[in-house]
Amino acid sequence: MTDTYDEFIAEIKDIYNLKGIERILWWDQQTYMPPKGGLDRSLEMATLSTTIHSRMTSEKMGKYLDDLQRESVYEDLTPEEQTNVRETAWEYHRAVAVPPELVKELAKTKTGATQDWAKAREKKDWSIFKPHVEKLLDLKKQEAEFIGYEDRMYDALMDAFEPGMKSSQVETLFARFRDKLVPIVERIVDTGIRPDTSIVTAGYRISDQERFNEMLLPLIGFDMERGRLDATTHPFTSGTLHDTRLTTRYNPDDLRPAIFATIHEAGHGLYQQGHLDDHYGTPMGVAISLGIHESQSRSWENMIGRSLPFWKFFYPKLVEAFPKQFEGRTVEDFYAAINDVAPSLIRVEADEVTYNLHILLRFEIEMALFSGEIDANDAPQAWNERVDKFLGLDVPDDSQGVLQDIHWSMGAFGYFPTYTLGNLYAAQFFEMALKDMPDMYTSFENGDFSGFLDWTRRNIHEKGKLHRAEGLCREITGNPLDEDHFISYLNGKFGPLYGF
Ligand code: CO
Repeated sequence: MTDTYDEFIAEIKDIYNLKGIERILWWDQQTYMPPKGGLDRSLEMATLSTTIHSRMTSEKMGKYLDDLQRESVYEDLTPEEQTNVRETAWEYHRAVAVPPELVKELAKTKTGATQDWAKAREKKDWSIFKPHVEKLLDLKKQEAEFIGYEDRMYDALMDAFEPGMKSSQVETLFARFRDKLVPIVERIVDTGIRPDTSIVTAGYRISDQERFNEMLLPLIGFDMERGRLDATTHPFTSGTLHDTRLTTRYNPDDLRPAIFATIHEAGHGLYQQGHLDDHYGTPMGVAISLGIHESQSRSWENMIGRSLPFWKFFYPKLVEAFPKQFEGRTVEDFYAAINDVAPSLIRVEADEVTYNLHILLRFEIEMALFSGEIDANDAPQAWNERVDKFLGLDVPDDSQGVLQDIHWSMGAFGYFPTYTLGNLYAAQFFEMALKDMPDMYTSFENGDFSGFLDWTRRNIHEKGKLHRAEGLCREITGNPLDEDHFISYLNGKFGPLYGF
C-alpha cells in the first residue's frame, strides 16, 4: 500500500507543479506581460487548465483514491497522509462532478460577463450586465446541482472557497454580528469626530513609497529571498512556498493604500512562506481556505499594522523617508489618521469597522438570489435598501452600488462571506495569541514581530490542510467561531479613539 500512496503523492506533486506554473504566469500577466501578450497567454492558460483538469480527474487518480480510501488502508495512514487523501478526494469529487460542457459554457460566459461588467460599470447601467448575471446564476445553479449539497444549493458554491462551512451557520453568525456592529458604527458617527487626515494625504513620491514598503517587509518577517513586491491596480498574492509574489498599489496623493495593501498581502505571503518544505506540493503544504487566508492578512493589516505599538516602531522610519510631510506631526496624529472610520459606498476603500457591513449586505443578496427570493432584476434595489439600512447612505448610481465588484462577473458566488469570516477568525486567533503572549504589543513597539509570526507558524501555517477551518478554530481557541472577539477588539480600539 505504501507504493500506492507514494505513486499518488508523485501524481499530486506533478499537478501542484502545473498549478505553480499557472500561478506565476497569472502573476506575470498582471504585472510585466507586454500589452499584446494576452493572446498567447490565454492559449497557454487554456492548455494548462485543461491539462490540470484531466490529470486531476484521470482514471488513475480515481483508482488511487479508491484504493487509499478503503477503510483498512486509510486507517493505517498517518493523519498527514489521511489529510492528503481526504482533501484530494474532495477536489477530485468536485472536478469530476461537473460535465466538461458546463465547465466550457461557464468559462465562455465569464469572459463575456467580465467585459460587459466593465462596460456597465462605466455607463452606470445595470441592464448591460443583468443578462450575464441571469445566465451565470443559471449555470452556477446547475453546477451546484451536479456537485451536490445537503442543505442549500449555495453551500456547494461556498464550499469552493470555505470548505465545510454551511450558509445556515454563516447566516446565523452574520445576523448576530450585524446587530452588534451597526450600533458601533452609529456610535462612532454620532461622536461627529473625524481625524485630521492631512498627514497621510500630503503627496509622496512613488519611488520613496516603494523603498519604504521594501524596507518594511523583511522587518515583519517576510523573506525577500523567497518573494518579491510589485505594483498592480488590484493587489494580490500569488506564487509558491519559495517564490511568493506580492503586489500593492501606489497612490502619489495618499500614503495609506500602498502601506496597508503591502502589509495585507504580506499577511497572505507569510502564510504561504510558513508552510513546511516536507509537505511541498501536497494539501498538507497549502492553505485551509480563503477565510483562514484572510484571517492572516487581516491580523497583519489591521490588528498589527493599524496599531499604535506597530507605528511606535515604524513611525521614525516613515519620518526619515518623508521628512517634509511629517514635520511637526506626531505618531498619535498618524495613528488617528489611519483609523478614520466613516460609512462609505465603496467596499475596497472602506475602513476596518464598516468594511464588514459591505460584506454582510452582499451575502444577504447572494442568499436571496439563490433561494429565489429575488432575481437579477431586483438586485440593485435590494442593494440600495441595505446600504441605506446598514450604512445610512444613498447610492447615487449603480457603479457605486451593485456594479462595483468584479466577483459576480467571474461567477464567484459564495466568495464574499470569506472576507468577514477572515476578520472574525483573525480576532478570535489574535485574542488567543495575546493570552499566550501578554507582552506581544510591547514587542511590536521594539520591532520584534517574531513572537506572533512563530505563533501563527506553529498553530496555523505549518498545519496545511490538516484541519478544516472550523476544526482549526476549535483546536486553537477551544470554541467555534463567534463574533464577540471581533466586537470586543473594535470596542477596545475605537472606544478610546472616538471617546466612547
Ligand atoms: Co486578502
